[in-house]
Amino acid sequence: MLAKVHSCALIGLDGAIVEVEAHINPKALPGVIVVGLPDAAVKESTERVRAAIINSGLSYPRGRITVNLAPADLRKEGPAYDLPIAIALLILAAQLPPDLGEMLFLGELSLDGSLRHVNGVLPMAHVAKELGYASLFVPQADAAEAALVEGIDVYPVDTLGRLAAHLRSLHPIEPYRATIDLAGDAPMYACDFQDIKGQEHVKRALEVAAAGGHNCLLAGPPGAGKTLLARSVPSILPRLTLAEALDVTRIYSVADMLRSNGAGDSPIIRNRPFRAPHHTISHAGLVGGGQWPRPGEISLAHRGVLFLDEMPEFGSHTLEVLRQPLEDKVVTISRAQGSLSFPANFMLIGAQNPCPCGYYGDPERACACSAGTVSKYQKRLSGPLLDRIDIHVETPRVPFQKLSDDRRGEPSAMIRERVEAARARQAARFAERGRSNGRQAAGLTCNADMGPTEVREFCGVDETGRQLLAAAMRQMNLSARAYHRILKLARTIADLAGCEHIQPSHLAEAIQYRPRRTE
Ligand SMILES: Nc1ncnc2c1ncn2[C@@H]1O[C@H](COP(=O)(O)OP(=O)(O)OP(=O)(O)O)[C@@H](O)[C@H]1O
Ligand SMILES: [Mg+2]
Repeated sequence: MLAKVHSCALIGLDGAIVEVEAHINPKALPGVIVVGLPDAAVKESTERVRAAIINSGLSYPRGRITVNLAPADLRKEGPAYDLPIAIALLILAAQLPPDLGEMLFLGELSLDGSLRHVNGVLPMAHVAKELGYASLFVPQADAAEAALVEGIDVYPVDTLGRLAAHLRSLHPIEPYRATIDLAGDAPMYACDFQDIKGQEHVKRALEVAAAGGHNCLLAGPPGAGKTLLARSVPSILPRLTLAEALDVTRIYSVADMLRSNGAGDSPIIRNRPFRAPHHTISHAGLVGGGQWPRPGEISLAHRGVLFLDEMPEFGSHTLEVLRQPLEDKVVTISRAQGSLSFPANFMLIGAQNPCPCGYYGDPERACACSAGTVSKYQKRLSGPLLDRIDIHVETPRVPFQKLSDDRRGEPSAMIRERVEAARARQAARFAERGRSNGRQAAGLTCNADMGPTEVREFCGVDETGRQLLAAAMRQMNLSARAYHRILKLARTIADLAGCEHIQPSHLAEAIQYRPRRTE
C-alpha cells in the first residue's frame, strides 16, 4: 500500500515542493526507513512521529515502512517533515482518507502530538499558492506568518489529533484570516535629529542618503557624534511599502528571526531594518553562509541600513567581501550543491576616525600619529570600496556654544516627510517608465538602484552641468563608476528639491560629497 502527502523544503529564500511517499509491507518485520537525502533531524523524525501518533490516541501502521522524500536530489533538513510523515503513516493505517492532493503540510511534532514552530513558513506558503495548492496546514504559532500570503487557506494546527479530526470531517478547523496592517504603532526611535547639535551639513548628507538609498561614510574625531548621527538614521527613513515589507519579512522568516516581534498581531516587519554588526563578526555572519546557508547581516539589512561603526577595524578581508553585494545588490553563496543568492539591497553607513588617535586634520588639537601611521590607517578602506560610497562627510568637533545651545533642531519627522516625497517622485518615475515602454522596472525603488540605462534616461544634464562634470572628472581623477554615482546622487538632490531636471547646483553638491584624496 502506498500513501502520498505534499510538503515543502527551503532552498535559500525559496520554497520547493517535496513529496512524502510512504509504503508499507505488512508481512515484513516492523521498522521504518527514510530515504531521499534526509539529514539527521529528518531521520530522527520517525521516532517523534511514532510517539506523537500513539499519544494522540491514533493507531500506528504495522509492518515494514519505507518513507521516500522526493525529489531525491534535494537535501531535506530540519524537523518540518514530521507532520507530513505522520499524515502519510496515518493514511497507511487507514486512519485518514487517502487522497490529500490539494493540501500541503508543514510542522514539527512533539512527543505528545502537539505542533511546534518551524522557520521559513512565509516563502513556503508563497510557493504553495503559486503552484495552486488549495490549503496549507501549519503549526498554530506560524499561521499568522503563512497568512501573509493571500489566495490560499491557511489552517492553524495545534495537535495531530485535532488535524486528524479535521481531515476526517469530524471537527473542522477554521482557516486563519488575517488583515495586514502596515501602520501599527509608531516606533520609538533611540534618537531624534532634533537633539543632535550642530553637524547641519552631516544631517543634510544623511537626508540625501536616505532619500535616494545612497551609501555614506562619516569621518571625524572621537566624540563628534558619528555613532549618534548614524543611529538616528532610522527615524528619517521612508516607511516600507507592502511589497518591500513582505520582501524583508521573507528573509527574517528564513533566518528564524520573526517571532521576537510579539505574539498575536501580524508578524510582518513594519520598519526598515537597521543592522549594526560588531567588527569581530565572521564572514558567514556578515554575508551569509554555513553548511545550510542562512542570510547574513547584509541580507538582514535588505531595504534598510547596514551600519559599520569603526569601519577600518573590520579588517580588509571582511570589507572586501562587501564589494560584490554593494554593486549587485544580491549576494551569491557557492556551495557543493550549487549556488544560492540572497537579496542584499542595503544602504551602507560607515563611521571612522581619520587616524588611530582620531585628531588628524583637527584645527585645534594636534594629531599624535606619524604620517606613515595615518596613511596606513586610511588604506584599510580600499580604493574600490571607497569608490562605492557616494557620500563622504566630515564630522568635525562641535564647539561649546553650539552644544550648550538649548534651541532644538528640525525634528526627524519633518525630515522624513521630505525624504518620502523624494522617494515618491522616484517611484512615480520608475512606474511611468514601466508603462511607457512596457519594460519591467521591477525592483527599482530608489535612485541608488538605477543601472546605466536608467542613468542615461533620467539623469540628463545641461551644458553648464556638463562642463562642471568634465572639470570634476579631470581634477579629481574620477572613475566611470564615480561618474555614474555622481549623476544618481544629483538626481536624488534634484528630487529632494522637487526639480524635474538636474541643475548645476545639484551636481555641485553631489560632486563635493566625493572623497578628497589626502596625499
Ligand atoms: N552633535 C552632538 N549633539 C549632541 N550630543 C552629542 C553630539 N555629538 C556627540 N554628542 C554626545 O557625545 C556622545 C558620544 O558621541 P558618539 O558616540 O556619536 O561619538 P563618535 O563620533 O561616534 O565617537 P568615536 O569616534 O569615539 O566613536 C553621544 O552619545 C552624545 O551624548
Ligand atoms: Mg562612535
